Amino acid sequence: MNKNHRILLSGTSNEPLARKIAKELDKKLGKVTIKHFSDGETYVNVEEDVNDQKVYFIQSGSYPTNESLMELLIMLHALKKTNLKPKKVIAVVPFYPYRRMEKTVEVGESLTFELVADLLNTAGIDKIICMDLHKHRSKRFFKFQRRELFAMPVLIDYLRKKDLSNTVLVAPDKGSMPELKKYSRALGIPIVKAYKKRKKHDEAIIKKLVGEVEGKDIIIIDDEINTAGTLLGVVNALKEKKAKDIYFACTHAVLSGPAIERLKQAPLKEVIVTDTINLPEEKRIDKIKILSVAKIFADAIRMDH
Ligand code: R5P
Repeated sequence: MNKNHRILLSGTSNEPLARKIAKELDKKLGKVTIKHFSDGETYVNVEEDVNDQKVYFIQSGSYPTNESLMELLIMLHALKKTNLKPKKVIAVVPFYPYRRMEKTVEVGESLTFELVADLLNTAGIDKIICMDLHKHRSKRFFKFQRRELFAMPVLIDYLRKKDLSNTVLVAPDKGSMPELKKYSRALGIPIVKAYKKRKKHDEAIIKKLVGEVEGKDIIIIDDEINTAGTLLGVVNALKEKKAKDIYFACTHAVLSGPAIERLKQAPLKEVIVTDTINLPEEKRIDKIKILSVAKIFADAIRMDH
């Protein structure tokens, strides 16, 4: 077997994306069995010859999060801590689980981002390829090689095709400002700043908008949408100020709890997301446009040394 052969394996959390990445690379996914014992514990068996090969295991840490995470850990463990002897094991994690807690606010909270990084390390990971982490400084928790990818080129390509002559960009919090500036440069449209205050975990209100939005089309940019509480807060504030058509674009479509109902009712023209998370059929409502990041991952794998 070719010594520099790359083997692609997929977990169960986002097989459609794994298949698209494999297609881009003109490869087939390798054979693994992943199933559950009757008490719910995960069983994994790698049936592919991975001896001296670079193995890429593609698994999003998406809902059901704990299930997806355990599957990732057990697969890494099976690859690295048995006699399979791959050359290198790379976890391709389009959506990193437990990413929001990369800093704690109150005593007694767990830094779950770091915990997951430590677990991956213990399981035997050599490198992670991930996308749009919540905050860039969180990368310091990885004690292994890492490559962070960005969905921005795919989102920008799509947004560029719209008539942007009367459009401004809005980000829900100041943390997103560096990202938003890149969008602003690429699309050639101005930014309106929004200042968010979180009432509860899934509810946000916009305290202030700095810039003119009346009669304007709006593109709201964020890294993820979870319960859609933040988005709703921004949309309400914009509509109060008589904004015209509102679009939303983000990388990770978590869409948990009340999100879909909220999106159905919100005065939004379109919700543009990527396929880092595999959306079940019932969440694929008309307003949602899904763009694929498969090529970005395939290129990163192709160029990985
Ligand atoms: C927060 O810092 C993130 O960038 C998102 O704004 C947030 O995770 C969205 O969550 P939700 O949709 O539940 O408001």
